[in-house]
Amino acid sequence: MTGNEIRKKFIDFFIKHKHKLFPSSSLVPDDPTLLFTTAGMVQMMPYLLRQKDVSENPRACSVQKSFRTTDIDDIGNDGRHLTFFEMLGSWSFGDYYKEEAISLALELLVKEFGLSMDKIWATVFAGDSKIPEDTDSYNHWVSVGLPKERIIKLGWKDNFWGPPGLEGPCGPSTEIYYDMGKEVGCGKETCAPGCDCDRFIEVWNAGVFMEYYKDMDGNYSRLPYTNVDTGAGLERLVTLLQGKKSVFETDLFVPIIRSIESVSGKSYGDYKKQMNIIADHIKASVFLIIDGTFPSNLHRGYVLRRLIRRVMIQIYSMNLPLDNRVMETVVDAISDIYGVEYKEISENKDSVKSVLGNEIESFVKVLSRSFKVLDKVVEDNKISGDSMFLLHDTYGLNIEILKDILTSRNISFDDQGFLDLMKVQKSKSKMSSSFTLGKEMEVEYGELPKTEFVGYLDLTVPGGSEVLKVVDMQNFVSFVLDKTPFYAESGGQVGDVGKVLGHNIIVNVKSVKKTKSGVFVHFGEYEHESEKLKSGNIVDPIVDKNVRDKTSHNHTAVHLLSSALHKLLSVKIVQKGSFVDQDRLRFDFSFDRPLTDDEIKSVEVIVNAEIKKGDKIEIIETTLDDARRMGVNLAFEDRYANDVRIIKIGDFSMELCGGTHFGFTSDLGTFKIDKQESAGQGIRRIRASLN
Ligand code: ALA
Repeated sequence: MTGNEIRKKFIDFFIKHKHKLFPSSSLVPDDPTLLFTTAGMVQMMPYLLRQKDVSENPRACSVQKSFRTTDIDDIGNDGRHLTFFEMLGSWSFGDYYKEEAISLALELLVKEFGLSMDKIWATVFAGDSKIPEDTDSYNHWVSVGLPKERIIKLGWKDNFWGPPGLEGPCGPSTEIYYDMGKEVGCGKETCAPGCDCDRFIEVWNAGVFMEYYKDMDGNYSRLPYTNVDTGAGLERLVTLLQGKKSVFETDLFVPIIRSIESVSGKSYGDYKKQMNIIADHIKASVFLIIDGTFPSNLHRGYVLRRLIRRVMIQIYSMNLPLDNRVMETVVDAISDIYGVEYKEISENKDSVKSVLGNEIESFVKVLSRSFKVLDKVVEDNKISGDSMFLLHDTYGLNIEILKDILTSRNISFDDQGFLDLMKVQKSKSKMSSSFTLGKEMEVEYGELPKTEFVGYLDLTVPGGSEVLKVVDMQNFVSFVLDKTPFYAESGGQVGDVGKVLGHNIIVNVKSVKKTKSGVFVHFGEYEHESEKLKSGNIVDPIVDKNVRDKTSHNHTAVHLLSSALHKLLSVKIVQKGSFVDQDRLRFDFSFDRPLTDDEIKSVEVIVNAEIKKGDKIEIIETTLDDARRMGVNLAFEDRYANDVRIIKIGDFSMELCGGTHFGFTSDLGTFKIDKQESAGQGIRRIRASLN
């Protein structure tokens, strides 16, 4: 059976058993606490938590594109690990439970796929003082005829699953292993599923029995209902069913490996590890790019950049020219394998190649400069922390990549020396800029209670504020009040400016920042002849309304711009950053080419039409769960607390945001795009203003 046939058979089986097929969701999840989609259950979250009605479809199945960064360094060392994989999954939302889940899994593996019952083993959760042993699953395995000695009880690491993000549903699991035979194993008496050797292959997480909810503090509580969540890596199942020893020997990889052999003129036998890494990483990169990730120095973009750079390091270590040829050939091979199941790959093959090509080109420049330096600084096959720092800081070579290169050349390095220099650099840069909330400031103000922010509604504090602490610096003063109307810089919006008045005291507030614990630190300068602030003073803080209003309008315009871009550009774009002050606004987003003049015009027309409509800018204060339920656009950069604010503008835009929006869109004036430019590889920046 081919890989494509196995995928189909899995799905057909569950559809036959009344499971509704869900299309794969994007590798870029809605959950802001999660970098990538790591399992099929990520898109099922609203059903698993009953935020969506399950009565019509209490059973589901899917083939989910998944990506896990945890195994990145293991790729190529064995035949099991991959970064990108397809997860075959099935779910019962409070319909059947452990017994039927186990029977369905066995029926599919033994009857449909023809695996031998004699080689099947199972693991169940052993339990501890926190969560009890899963005796039900154990008993079900016994009743379907599995000998007791082939049912192994394991702990949290092996048999408790989830949640994939910081909080969510989770539970004990039962997993199915296949015995590849004593001869491939370690030979120990105790060898069983859970052993590190190759004898037992984990085929299917045949059921996470989701009975618990883990909260942000790590506490488990019982859910008032149950779910079954199963997952099997397609590539591993295919390896087993095709009788191979490694995922890279299956038909989901062989054409890719062959393409690398033919373009490089090298043989797989000589360069197994390198070719495995190239095949895995380019495949993952293709799927990430298709789902709107572009190489950058942040978050997902950084992971993608690292994959591409690691590919180039392999190419380098095979003594091949550092150009696009391997990548282009591999993309074609991937498109041949997946182009039918994932049409977006065959349809966008050329743009994927161009994203990869640009990244390769810029990396090769960094590399060739670095190699010249490297040749000079390596002595006796060793490199000092100083030289590593030079390559990182001056030549822009990312430290993980540098380490990959050093490892591939067998050069030993001084990690600690490098880290010490990084620390020195960080503290230097903190001291050099004045209005920054460096570590010193965090420590200085960290003990104070969270500041009460009244500035969403008021620009002053009726009755005054108490000064809680003052730190006088050479050229300015920083201080904290118990209550403040000053917005502190966050979410791309600058802090407010204004004045703080007391008895014989005038401070011009120039900037406001927030500590991690929510203390608002005001930075300002005394007016000529002003007396100094002291803690205990009662003062009147006054925000400059004119500046605040203009800044707020620019912030609202960012939301309108973001929605307009989402509506206009059919591919998924992801917000990469924004900035607003009283004069201008800036919005960065992932996209691999400049917008055309017509597109720029259209964005302006769409935003101005929405401004004309004069929709009210509504502020809704609610919980993160509710926000998810309402389908709010959750920009991933931010980690939101549980209490969130939604800014809703008619039917046009809905975003989580802590910024100061108010009024009606008609207050904004006319929106004009001043400039578009690149803000890094695969990131566009639009600068705009209101008149
Ligand atoms: N969500 C479970 C897993 O990924 C099924 O193993």
